[in-house]
Amino acid sequence: MKTDRSRIIASLTVIVILLGSTSFTLQSYAEKSSLKVSDFEDPSICGSCHDQHYSEWQRSQHAMAQVDRLYLAEYDQASKDTGGLTDPFCTKCHSPISYLAGEIPVSSELGMKGVSCDFCHTVSGTTDTGNGAFENSPGKSKRGPLRDPSASGYHDSTYSELHRESEFCAMCHVVNHPVNGLPIMTTYQEWRQSPYAAEGVTCQHCMMVPTKRKAAVTGNVRDEVFGHIFLGGHHEYNLKRAARLTLEVSSPVTAGENVTIRANVTNSGCGHALPTGVSEVRELWLEVTAQDHSGKLLFQGRQYYRPVFVDEKGEDVGPLFWRATKILSDNRIAPKETRTERFSFNIPPDATLPITVDARLLYRLAPQEVADKAGLGLLPVTVLAQAEVSAGRSGILSIFGLPAALVAVAVMALAALLILHRRRRQ
Ligand code: HEC
Ligand code: HEC
Ligand code: HEC
Ligand code: HEC
Repeated sequence: MKTDRSRIIASLTVIVILLGSTSFTLQSYAEKSSLKVSDFEDPSICGSCHDQHYSEWQRSQHAMAQVDRLYLAEYDQASKDTGGLTDPFCTKCHSPISYLAGEIPVSSELGMKGVSCDFCHTVSGTTDTGNGAFENSPGKSKRGPLRDPSASGYHDSTYSELHRESEFCAMCHVVNHPVNGLPIMTTYQEWRQSPYAAEGVTCQHCMMVPTKRKAAVTGNVRDEVFGHIFLGGHHEYNLKRAARLTLEVSSPVTAGENVTIRANVTNSGCGHALPTGVSEVRELWLEVTAQDHSGKLLFQGRQYYRPVFVDEKGEDVGPLFWRATKILSDNRIAPKETRTERFSFNIPPDATLPITVDARLLYRLAPQEVADKAGLGLLPVTVLAQAEVSAGRSGILSIFGLPAALVAVAVMALAALLILHRRRRQ
């Protein structure tokens, strides 16, 4: 799309000119540091002593960050849109070692391993919140949370408070638009404003749940060693703990009348909004259906939870966040918040009661058409929470579970029998 591309380059150029040489310019991301890819070590080396950390990390999205097809498809699109200006920006978080070495596009074996051990464990400071504000000092010393590390025989160990804090994750789990500063990914801020932050529950507590085990094959067993799978929205285990759902139906429920359904969706399990991260890519929606006693569909309603990013023409940019100039709306659910959705509809006069209402909160990593473009195949839809209620008495009044008419016939038959019996005896 030539016109699209020149329009976006034009608008980015205008903003870049407007902002002059502020740190928001995309060009600043292309500046080279003095580091080389070979200053960092391959995860397989670490794996020889930290075998569990290694096998967990291999299963994490951090290991996939540079080979993830959804990412690569968007990266190419952004690159086309901006004449390659976004390449270093995206690379900064998805393959930080390549970024630090000025290796763009990413080509080295280590660069392809995304966010790896020696990147995270040589972070020596952070300069800002988000957009990859990390400082690294690669070399002999590995930085981590242990105050009393045993000698490794391979590297020195340096205690780092930063590694124990949410601010460590915020370096990458916050994305501000590189040109206009729009808050695109706000996972850290969502946590900061939540009750979890007040209670001192960090990102690491939930996403790297600690267990009692060894931190290295030659070390002693420790009470708290942090997991490295980084369970998130890619793992069903985590998704199933994210939300709760309850349903209420207004009474009375009568054929031919209006009925109102209230679905209460609670973000019960996340320390950040639901959904979070690249929430412009994710799909989270509530689906409510009602059917009558015979199974006839009476109503179907949907509510999506997402931020809506628009371009300068006011058009929804969908997952293509770099095109955004404004956030039109954002109805994602905050930590511990309960959102009530109302749906009203008319029950047709010929409907059979009771009606059954079913509500499901559904999640998909990306819209299917986005997945198709990225060559991902069919993406699963995960049910995060589900609720069902029946409402409205059936047309026939029931007594002890039996239809009233049947009970009446039985009573009359009994009475007739009694009368007949008496007459015979007289
Ligand atoms: C995304 C960044 C990141 C990556 C990648 C990463 N780690 Fe960690 N690692 C951490 C953080 C953060 C902690 C500390 C968590 C805490 O104490 O709150 C940690 C803790 C550790 C510890 C101390 C023991 C423990 O688990 O508490 C070791 C050892 C370790 N990591 C090794 C590794 C190895 C080996 C790899 C690669 C296979 C790796 N890490 C990949 C962030 C990372
Ligand atoms: C020869 C074995 C060996 C190798 C190889 C090795 N480590 Fe370690 N590492 C250890 C031992 C032993 C400890 C201390 C564990 C303990 O005290 O429980 C340790 C501790 C650590 C810590 C914790 C430091 C702290 O103060 O919190 C980090 C982080 C770490 N290693 C990262 C790495 C990384 C990254 C690599 C690969 C570049 C690596 N290690 C390679 C043996 C090794
Ligand atoms: C160098 C940047 C960087 C740092 C630092 C970082 N992450 Fe990530 N993280 C990423 C990227 C990039 C992805 C997405 C990879 C992909 O799927 O393409 C990611 C993915 C994740 C996911 C998976 C999300 C999902 O949808 O399944 C979790 C969970 C996660 N990170 C947790 C953490 C935590 C917790 C910390 C702090 C201890 C942290 N990350 C630090 C860059 C980083
Ligand atoms: C400041 C760091 C940062 C920058 C810059 C960044 N990302 Fe990411 N990206 C992340 C993190 C962190 C995640 C994981 C978010 C989550 O799921 O919670 C992610 C996830 C993604 C995903 C979803 C991957 C999946 O499989 O779920 C896509 C697509 C993506 N990024 C595209 C891009 C593109 C394209 C650019 C550049 C225009 C870019 N990102 C720049 C940090 C960053």
